[in-house]
Amino acid sequence: MTEPAAARSVISLAGIRKAFANGVVALDGLDLNVREGEFLSLLGPSGCGKSTALRLIAGLMQADSGRLLVTPSAGPPAEAWHHDVAYVFQEPTLMPWASAFDNVWLPLRLAGISRADARQQVCEALSGVGLDGFEAAYPRQLSGGMKMRVSIARALVTRPRLLLMDEPFAALDEITRFKLNDDLLRLQQEHGWTVVFVTHSVFESVYLASRIAVMTPRPGRIAEEIAVDVPYPRTEAFRTDPRYAATCQATSAILHRAMGAAA
Ligand SMILES: Nc1ncnc2c1ncn2[C@@H]1O[C@H](COP(=O)(O)OP(=O)(O)O)[C@@H](O)[C@H]1O
Ligand SMILES: [Mg+2]
Repeated sequence: MTEPAAARSVISLAGIRKAFANGVVALDGLDLNVREGEFLSLLGPSGCGKSTALRLIAGLMQADSGRLLVTPSAGPPAEAWHHDVAYVFQEPTLMPWASAFDNVWLPLRLAGISRADARQQVCEALSGVGLDGFEAAYPRQLSGGMKMRVSIARALVTRPRLLLMDEPFAALDEITRFKLNDDLLRLQQEHGWTVVFVTHSVFESVYLASRIAVMTPRPGRIAEEIAVDVPYPRTEAFRTDPRYAATCQATSAILHRAMGAAA
């Protein structure tokens, strides 16, 4: 059997350092590589620099030193590079005065696409996250899980290739979180996105990711990585699979080592 050709590199960070104006060094010596189609989970304790790393990757802030290369899609850089990258925050951050449709339309509207021209794409994005028929609903009429679905639809409406998610389900109850985990995996399989998913939950990272990069406490860097060698599609049955339990245990041990390493 011949090895499949290695997938293209989408994210490459080397020796990244980031300090804030108040002197807090959030990241130091951060190295990370992500290949096309991977579901990479960035796992670490609160305050270790996960969000900072994600914002650097998204181009929302600049590193002080190190090398950072983000190439969301193959071929020549797209006219609007940022359309290939989507970012989902922990809070749904919807406009309360706008309907689900208008919230999802926003990125297209900013790109100069009229409401009428955006109609099909917006409805497809809402339908993709299970919100058929909720186009006219306002955020206050939606549950926490539904608001997060709208937020995901808004990220997907530009058809990105790279999805950056910062603890998107942390504020949701467990049943809703499990449901959104499954929907996210299904969508990723359908679209072949590259995903970087930030979480502080060992269980969530093992369930979702093909590879987990465990960070040290601040200043954050990658302590160790672990592959989750269980093929997709993964379903609810995986949560009671012995391989799931074993990988959670191994990942917890790595996290404990990483915490100790910095002390
Ligand atoms: N804009 C900022 N100014 C100063 N300190 C910050 C800023 N943003 C984050 N920090 C600090 O940097 C560290 C890493 O933060 P963050 O990346 O948000 O961690 P995480 O997402 O892992 O919880 C924390 O100690 C946080 O208080
Ligand atoms: Mg954070």
